[in-house]
Amino acid sequence: MPDVVIRTKGLRKVYVSGFLRHKFVGLHGLDLEIFRGEIFGYIGPNGSGKTTTIKLLMGLNFPSGGEGEVLGKPIGDNAVRRHLGYLPERPYFYDYLTAYEFLHFYGSLHGMTKGERNRKIDELLPLVHMERARDVQLRKFSKGMLQRVGLAQALINDPQLVVFDEPSSGLDPMGRMLIRDTILRLRDQGTTVMLSSHILSDVESICDRVGIIAGGKLQRVAAVSELVGADVESVEITLEGATEALLAELGAGDGHLHASGRRTLTVPDEDSAQHLVRKALDGGAKLVSVVPRRESLESMFVDEMTAIDKSSREAKR
Ligand SMILES: Nc1ncnc2c1ncn2[C@@H]1O[C@H](COP(=O)(O)OP(=O)(O)O)[C@@H](O)[C@H]1O
Ligand SMILES: [Mg+2]
Repeated sequence: MPDVVIRTKGLRKVYVSGFLRHKFVGLHGLDLEIFRGEIFGYIGPNGSGKTTTIKLLMGLNFPSGGEGEVLGKPIGDNAVRRHLGYLPERPYFYDYLTAYEFLHFYGSLHGMTKGERNRKIDELLPLVHMERARDVQLRKFSKGMLQRVGLAQALINDPQLVVFDEPSSGLDPMGRMLIRDTILRLRDQGTTVMLSSHILSDVESICDRVGIIAGGKLQRVAAVSELVGADVESVEITLEGATEALLAELGAGDGHLHASGRRTLTVPDEDSAQHLVRKALDGGAKLVSVVPRRESLESMFVDEMTAIDKSSREAKR
């Protein structure tokens, strides 16, 4: 039986807003388990309830019903906070603190001694490539730099569980890579990670399991390997120097013509690819690449969301 780090049962959040006290269910009875040592991806469209779930788990918002446990204690337990790392979707930074002061401040919130904080900050700043900006005020930081300080903040207390809420949105490729590498390093150390994201290629490459949420309801939880197809859906073949006559002979349509003059043709399976490549080479074309396409998490996700959308529209009729 795996060790459970997060467990919720019927966890629910109803938001009441405005003068007329309109009620809106942000999270419908959530049943979720996250195991020790895994990287759990939490994906869903905007407004589906990802941040709502995370804030409830972090004890930053009160549930309207149901229950939850984090690291074996009821959510909101103060003693557990010391073992949690959290990078919010929109972190709040104190403009006039330097990176160094900011990290000291967070370390002291976790009850770390000055010595412990110094040691940890010296270890973290190089990891997030911020040693040189250590004494610069946060108001002078770019978005990418702030996110890196936020990352260091989330790790200051050597947490057992780290929760990232859309850490890569708005980051450049280098920033995204740093987040990915950091998460993989945490997993190697045995830390549990919950990652909410809508950058599905990142989720696909680093997560062990994913939960898909839509309209405040958890739709599905599965291993990434179960969701992402192992079967080849199509094969893309790129050729150079394929004449019109050769294309007609190959019988795979005109494909896609690149600015470079190369042409990419798509065939449905590996056998047809073999056949086409042989004919193309015989016909004097040069082979540039052969790329098998498998169903990605992205296309699976789009299919799933379309199906949910359709069934909810039918239910309303
Ligand atoms: N404080 C709030 N008051 C009222 N509605 C809210 C509040 N916070 C979130 N919501 C609503 O709850 C739903 C889920 O929001 P959220 O959890 O932030 O989604 P996500 O993080 O998946 O984008 C959205 O429709 C949002 O408008
Ligand atoms: Mg959110």
